Amino acid sequence: MSGPALQSAHVDALARWIDALPRAKGYVPADPAAAERGRAIFDDPTVGCATCHAGERMTNNATVDVQTGGTFQVPSLLGLGARAPYMHQGCAQTLADRFGFCGGGTAHGNTSGLAAGELADLIAYLDTL
Ligand code: HEC
Repeated sequence: MSGPALQSAHVDALARWIDALPRAKGYVPADPAAAERGRAIFDDPTVGCATCHAGERMTNNATVDVQTGGTFQVPSLLGLGARAPYMHQGCAQTLADRFGFCGGGTAHGNTSGLAAGELADLIAYLDTL
């Protein structure tokens, strides 16, 4: 980012500081039942979201290619609702856009079999994270 090279002690201190920043709180869902159905879809192994966005921080920290034009580290999904736009180049203005033209291919979760209502439930859940 054009700055001077940092010493490793500085990198460690910065990483600790960044990790300690409070995260934005997820939104309280307008329809809690929809968000709950969305959670089940997210956790469904046939859809596959939770294989990469896994654990307490919702990332397995792997670097993978989900057909978005390169290999990228799996981002945490915590605080998602408060940080649009999405994807490495910011091509998704809304969470719904993540499931459109710029959200990657089938390697980025298998959502092609979801009905429109199920996709809306999944998005409602993502907004609460
Ligand atoms: C194979 C691992 C993998 C799977 C499976 C996966 N993701 Fe991702 N996800 C990624 C990676 C890597 C990125 C970053 C890609 C980029 O920015 O181009 C990402 C980005 C995202 C983003 C954007 C986050 C941001 O801050 O910009 C959202 C939202 C998301 N994934 C939701 C999901 C959902 C919902 C599913 C299930 C349908 C899913 N992902 C399945 C690896 C995965």
